Amino acid sequence: MSTLSARPTSAVSRSRRTTVTVQAAAYNGSYAEELVATANKIASPGKGILAMDESNATCGKRLESIGLENTVENRQAYRELLVTTPGLGQYISGAILFEETLYQDTRKGTSMVAELNKSGLVPGIKVDKGLHPFANTNGESWCAGLDGLAQRCADYYKQGARFAKWRSVVSIPAGPTSIAVRDCAYGLARYAAIAQNAGLVPIVEPEILLDGEHDIDRTLEVAEMTWAETFKYLADNNVLFEGILLKPSMVTPGAEHPKRSTPEEVASYTLKMLRRRVPPAVPGIMFLSGGQSELESTLNLNAMNQSPNPWHVSFSYARALQNTVLKTWKGEEANVQIAQESLLKRAKANSDAQLGKYDASGESADAAKGMFEKGYTY
Ligand code: 13P
Repeated sequence: MSTLSARPTSAVSRSRRTTVTVQAAAYNGSYAEELVATANKIASPGKGILAMDESNATCGKRLESIGLENTVENRQAYRELLVTTPGLGQYISGAILFEETLYQDTRKGTSMVAELNKSGLVPGIKVDKGLHPFANTNGESWCAGLDGLAQRCADYYKQGARFAKWRSVVSIPAGPTSIAVRDCAYGLARYAAIAQNAGLVPIVEPEILLDGEHDIDRTLEVAEMTWAETFKYLADNNVLFEGILLKPSMVTPGAEHPKRSTPEEVASYTLKMLRRRVPPAVPGIMFLSGGQSELESTLNLNAMNQSPNPWHVSFSYARALQNTVLKTWKGEEANVQIAQESLLKRAKANSDAQLGKYDASGESADAAKGMFEKGYTY
């Protein structure tokens, strides 16, 4: 930021020399073009993101659900299954990894990053350091990770990552208090500026948790407030909007609200919120699934793509892409191929939904099972 003395243009201003503050422009450093190209590659027609960046603790919970121990070997075997799925690049343009996976090899000695590149997927990295209790609030949380972030991002870029993710949360039943929303927005904006300066496209993710008994109008109100704050701070931090991706929650009623919304209602509320808050300079909106069932998250995405949008509207699902895969695999080598086929099936369903052409007629009853867990941590 620089301070300039404005040149007086009239007798009045000559007598009162004014000082104006000039804001720096949006990021235009050496990575600018590459950031825009990466963001647009990820947000290309019929493509979305595979979120596989569960922390070791969360990955452990997933493995436990199929009776496996949380060992580095089991995490490696599972993640290898995901990244080596044949044909994944037809439907998936990027994969978000946890740090362990970014630096890990498959059992045959190739790096996980090389496997993704081979299939045309952009490797991404979760860079936040998780949620912590927010003092003097009603049980809300704040997201850590800014310390040392510039160096970590530079290291991740060297290791092959080209985009990043930072997940902060907003809880409706716990408030949300204005201080917690502001902190979430400010942290996301600081992270986004740092990531762009290291060549990583930041995914901006203020997740509005599904927890609560509130109706869909209350979610809309909180989502509008959260995204307004987030874009204010993104702009204040001179983040290049053409080089970011968003990861919002869909606007739905709280998980404990008695009425469920139809996909058309979710689409209408969510798009209304996005049109009011998100500039068209942003290339892509990559939704999280947040505990919705595989079927629900695909139907909702499909409903949002029934008419053209100013941005690419797509998916960055973890649970809604991986649930059936895990259950099919069960940790057995003999099941790897059918588990990979089930991943491809879900990826194709969501790719079709991105194009607004999804047909749910071949879906199993299992795909309709919700995955919401109260107080879920990632
Ligand atoms: P879910 O799709 O399971 O909500 O995960 C989203 C996420 O934040 C992972 O990056």
